[in-house]
Amino acid sequence: MTNRSKSQPNDKMALRLDFSHMMSDFVGPDRGITRQEIDDLIPRTSAIAADIEAKREAGDLGFYQLPYDMEAAAAATDMAGRFQGKCDDLVVLGIGGSALGGTALFRALCHPLHNLLSKSERGGKPRVFILDNVDPATVGSLLDFVDLEKTVFNVITKSGSTAETLSQFLIIRQLLTDKIGRESVKEHLVVTTGAGGQLRQLAEQEGYPLLSIPETVGGRFSVLSPVGLFPAALFGVDIAELLAGARYMDDRCRTDQLWQNPAYLAGALHYLADVKKGLSIAIMMPYSDALIQVGYWFRQLWAESLGKAINNSGETVNVGPTPVVASGVTDQHSQLQLYSEGPFNKLITFLLVENPDQSLTIPQHLEPREGISYLGGRDLEELMQIEAQSTQLALTKAGRSNMSLILPQTNAFTIGQLFFLLEVQTVFAGGLYGINPMDQPGVEASKQYIYGMLGRSGFEDKAREAKKWRDRGGRYTI
Ligand code: PA5
Repeated sequence: MTNRSKSQPNDKMALRLDFSHMMSDFVGPDRGITRQEIDDLIPRTSAIAADIEAKREAGDLGFYQLPYDMEAAAAATDMAGRFQGKCDDLVVLGIGGSALGGTALFRALCHPLHNLLSKSERGGKPRVFILDNVDPATVGSLLDFVDLEKTVFNVITKSGSTAETLSQFLIIRQLLTDKIGRESVKEHLVVTTGAGGQLRQLAEQEGYPLLSIPETVGGRFSVLSPVGLFPAALFGVDIAELLAGARYMDDRCRTDQLWQNPAYLAGALHYLADVKKGLSIAIMMPYSDALIQVGYWFRQLWAESLGKAINNSGETVNVGPTPVVASGVTDQHSQLQLYSEGPFNKLITFLLVENPDQSLTIPQHLEPREGISYLGGRDLEELMQIEAQSTQLALTKAGRSNMSLILPQTNAFTIGQLFFLLEVQTVFAGGLYGINPMDQPGVEASKQYIYGMLGRSGFEDKAREAKKWRDRGGRYTI
C-alpha cells in the first residue's frame, strides 16, 4: 500500500470529490456528517483495506487487474481492427453488466448524434446499437433496420448462459445463416464470454472469434475488460487512455488513509449518510447528457453489489441504499421539488464537467427587454454550470446532503478514472456494510425460475414451484 504524494503529469485531469455539502457545518447537525464520524471509521478502514489488498493480491478481485492487462487490451484492439471499416453497424447483445458499461462508454465518448452522422462524418466507425432487452418490438425493428451483411454482432455474456442474451444470439445466428450461409456467420459475430458456459463451447465448435472475460471479473465490474474494450475500440474510443485513467485512479486509491483516498471517502460518506442519517436513496445527477449512462451503469453497480440479505457472518441484514439517476438540468423541473422538500432520505451526487467541449452563445435581444435581456451574451455551458450551482445552493440551504464528482473534461482518461473510482468505492462500501459486494444471489434466483419456466433441464424443481405459484387461487384482482 502506498501513500500518494508525488505530483503526476496527469494531475490537471484528476477527478475531484467535493463533499463539503455532506458535512454538518454546511447542512446542519441533523443530517450532516462530522469529522469525528469519519475519523471513527479509520480503524475499520485499515481492516477493510487490508482485506481488499489481500484479495487483490490473490487475484480474487479481478477488476483491479484490468487496467494493467495489456494482453486483453491488445486482443480487443486487434479484434476491432479485423472489423474496422468493414461494417456499417455494430450491434451489442448483452444485458446488465454485459451492456451497461459499453452503453456508458458510447454515450460519454462518442458524438451525441453519432448514429445520425454519415459514415465519413463518423470517421468510418460503425453506428452502435446495444440490445439489452428482449422486447420483440425493439429486437425485430433493429433487425429489420440493419443490413446483416454489413453488421458485426458482439454477443456478450460472462456466464454464457443468460436466457435473454442467448435468445438474441440464436435469432441472429439463424438470420445470418439464412442470409449468408453457416460458414460466413463467423465474419459477423464476435463472442465475449467467460471460460465456462455453453456459449464458449459453441463458439469454439463453430469457430466464432472469441474474447475472454476473466473468471474473477463479475459482469458489473467488467467495463474495462474486453466486454467494454472491444466495442469501444470499434466505435473509436482511445482505450489506452481509458486504461491509463483507471491506473491513475488506482494509484490514488491504493492507500488505507481514509482522508486521502477519494474512493474510500466517497464510500464512507455514502455509508454514514445511509446508516447514521437515514439517507437511503443515493441519487446520481449528472449535469451532462454524455454522462447520463454512467449514472445507469453506477445504478446497477451500487444496487447489485450492496443490496444484500445476508452479511459476511451469515446474519440477515437486508441492507443496501437505493440508487436513482436524475438528469441535470432537466430534472430540476421534475424531481427537485421532492429532493428539496420531501422526506430527508436522499443523498445526491452531482457529476459535473468543468470544461465541456462545446459551448453555444445565447444572442442578445435586439432591444432591452425586462426578464429576457439578462440571458443575452451568456453561454449554454455557463447556464448549465449556474443551474448546477443554484441546485446545490438550494439543496444545501434546505439541509439536503449532496456532493460533487468533478471531471475536468469528458475524455477517455477521465472516464477511466470515474469507472475505477466508483468500482473501488463500491467494494469499500461493501466492506463497511459487512457484505459480499461481488455476488448477486437475488439475480441468480430469478435466472433459475426463468430456466425452470422455459424447460431447461436441471431446473425442474423451479418449474414445479413456478407452476404452483401461477396456479395459486384467491388472487386479488379488479
Ligand atoms: O453484474 C452481473 O453479474 C450481472 O448483472 C450480469 O452482468 C447479468 O446478469 C448478465 O450476466 P451474463 O453476463 O452472464 O450474461
